[in-house]
Amino acid sequence: MCGIVGYIGKNQALPILLEGLKKLEYRGYDSSGIAIIGPEGLTTEKSVGKLANLEQKLPSRTITGTIGIGHTRWATHGRPSDANAHPHLSPNGRFAVVHNGIVENYLQIKEHYLAGHTFCSETDTEVIAHLLEKFYDGDFEDAVRQMLQVVRGAFALVMICLEEPDKIIACRKDSPMVLGVGDGENFIASDVPALLSHTRQCIYVEKDEICLLTAEKIIIKDQNGNIIDKTVHTIAWDAESAEKDGYDDFMLKEIYEQPQAFRKVLSGRIEQGKVAFSEFELTENELAKWRKIYIVACGTAYHAGLVGKMIFEKLAHIPTEVEVASEFRYREPMLNEETLVLVISQSGETADTVAALREAKAHGAKVIAITNVLGSAIARESDYTLYLWAGPEISVASTKAYTTMLIAEYLLGAYFAQIKGTITNERLAEILHALAQLPEKAQQLLSNDFIQQINTIAEGYQKVHNLFFIGRGLDWAIVLEGALKLKEISYIHAEAYAAGELKHGTLALITDETPVIALCVQESTYEKTISNIKEVKARDAQVLIVTSENHQQEAAQISDAQLLLPLADNFIAPILSVIPLQLIAYYTAKIRGCNIDQPRNLAKSVTVE
Ligand code: F6R
Repeated sequence: MCGIVGYIGKNQALPILLEGLKKLEYRGYDSSGIAIIGPEGLTTEKSVGKLANLEQKLPSRTITGTIGIGHTRWATHGRPSDANAHPHLSPNGRFAVVHNGIVENYLQIKEHYLAGHTFCSETDTEVIAHLLEKFYDGDFEDAVRQMLQVVRGAFALVMICLEEPDKIIACRKDSPMVLGVGDGENFIASDVPALLSHTRQCIYVEKDEICLLTAEKIIIKDQNGNIIDKTVHTIAWDAESAEKDGYDDFMLKEIYEQPQAFRKVLSGRIEQGKVAFSEFELTENELAKWRKIYIVACGTAYHAGLVGKMIFEKLAHIPTEVEVASEFRYREPMLNEETLVLVISQSGETADTVAALREAKAHGAKVIAITNVLGSAIARESDYTLYLWAGPEISVASTKAYTTMLIAEYLLGAYFAQIKGTITNERLAEILHALAQLPEKAQQLLSNDFIQQINTIAEGYQKVHNLFFIGRGLDWAIVLEGALKLKEISYIHAEAYAAGELKHGTLALITDETPVIALCVQESTYEKTISNIKEVKARDAQVLIVTSENHQQEAAQISDAQLLLPLADNFIAPILSVIPLQLIAYYTAKIRGCNIDQPRNLAKSVTVE
C-alpha cells in the first residue's frame, strides 16, 4: 500500500526511481511523483493517475541529480490528485518527503505545531515536511528525530534535504521498508522487487530504526542514536521472478506458476512418510495445551482460513474458529495460553492481521504465521513461521499465495495429527501422497484445451451483471474465493452461497439473467448439491458445473456447461478446484478490458487499518 523508493549514488537518479516505481506500482497506483536534488536544486514532478502519466509529464530535458526519492500512492487522506501526490515539500521547498502509512495525529500537529501554515494538499503527510523545516537547525538527522517525537501512526518515511544533499534519511514504524546495498550507491524501497535489478544484498529495516544512506555507506541507528549492527541478507529470487516473463499480466503468470509453487511449498517437508518443518518443531506437550485454534486473516487469506478450519478439526481434532482480522481484535476474543492463533498473510504486513497477532500475544496465546514474505512483520513477531516459498506475488489478486496457503495448512494439520496421534498411518500416507501429486494435476488444468474451454465460458459472462457461486463444505469455502476473484478484477457482482442456503431467501434473485457456477467436487455432499443445482435450473439460471471427471455424464445432463477436474483425494481437491475459478475470473476480466493487475480502488499489501 503505497510504494516508496530512494536512490543515492553515482548514477542519474531519475531512471532508477522510475524503474523502481514501476516494480512497486502494484502497491498503489492512483498517483505518483519524484523529487531529485541536482544542479538545479530540489526539483519535483507529480501526476495523478498511473505512473505512465508521470512519465509523460516529465520534461524532455531530464531532471539531473544523483539523489532522489519517489512514490506511488494509494489514497488514504485526500482523493487522488496532483496536489495530493507525493513527494510533499516543506514551505521553503528544501525538504521533500515520501510516506507510506498514516500520520494519525496530523490534525493536532497542524493545530499545535504548525498554526498559521498554509498547506498545498489534503494529505496527512505534508505536516512531516513542515515539521522538518520547523525543527531544522543545521542538522537534518536531528530535525528528523524531533519530528519523530511528534508524529504518531504507522508509517515508513523517506526524506531528503537540499542543505545536506549527500544523504537520504529513512525511518519506519510498522510500514515495510528494505534497503539495497550497492557498490558506491544505495537504495531504499518498500518491497524487494524494486531492488532486484540493482542488487540482491538487502537490509530489512525494523520498527523505530533510523537509516542514514550516503553513496558509500548505510548507517542504522536506534531511537537513542546508537548504531545498530544489521545483517545483510542475500535475496534468493532473481530479477525475472518479478517480471511478467511474456505473460500479458502478472496474475496469469502467477496462476501458471502454481505447479512450481506447489513443489516449493512441499519441498523438504515430507520426509519418510511424515511431515517435518525446518522452521520449527513442536512437542506433544505443547500441542496438548492448545484447546482451540483461531485462524485470523483478511480477504483471500481469510478464505484460506475457512479451509484451514476443516483441516484442523478433521485431522487434529482441535476446535477451530476463523475470523477476519479487522473484527477479531475489536471483539475481545477469549484468548489465553491454551489458544493457538494462526495468522495467514501473503504479504506479512497487512495492518489488521498484524494488530490481531499482537492482540493474541498480549493475551498469552501462541502464534503461528503462514506467510510468503521473508522477514515481514508477521514473520518476525510470530512465535513460529511457516513460509510459502511461492516467490513474489505482484498481481493485486492473490492466486498462487492462496493455493500454497492451503497446502501449508494441510501440511500443518497433518503435522499436528501425527504428533497428537489423531490420524492413522494409512490416512497420513494417503494425504501426503495426494499432496505430492498436486503439481502434476495442477499442470493438467493449465493445458491449452482447458484454457480454451474457460475462454468460451468467460465470453458468455462478459455482459453479465450478477452471478452466483454455490457449493457445500470445502466446495463452499472455495467458491467464496472464486467470487472474490471475479469481483475484484472483472467488477461483476458475484455472491458465493452455501448451496443449501439459497432457498432460505436468496433464490429470489435467481433468473435467466443470473448465471450460477456450481462447484460440486466433494463426494459427501455431491447428491445434495445436485439437488440445489436443479433448484436453480428450475428458475432458468444458466448453470456451469465444475466437478470431477467421474461425474461427466450426470453433469452434462443437468447443466449448460461443465468443467471437469482430474480425480484427486477429495479432502485435498480444493487446491485444484480453485484453479478453474481463478481462470474464469482472469479471462472474464480480460474480455471485459479490465486492468487485471491493478484493479480499481485496490492495492496489494494493505498496511492501513
Ligand atoms: C484478494 C487479495 C486480498 C488479500 C488481503 C490480505 O485477491 O489479495 O484479499 O488476500 O488483502 O492480504 P495478505 O494475505 O497480504 O495479508
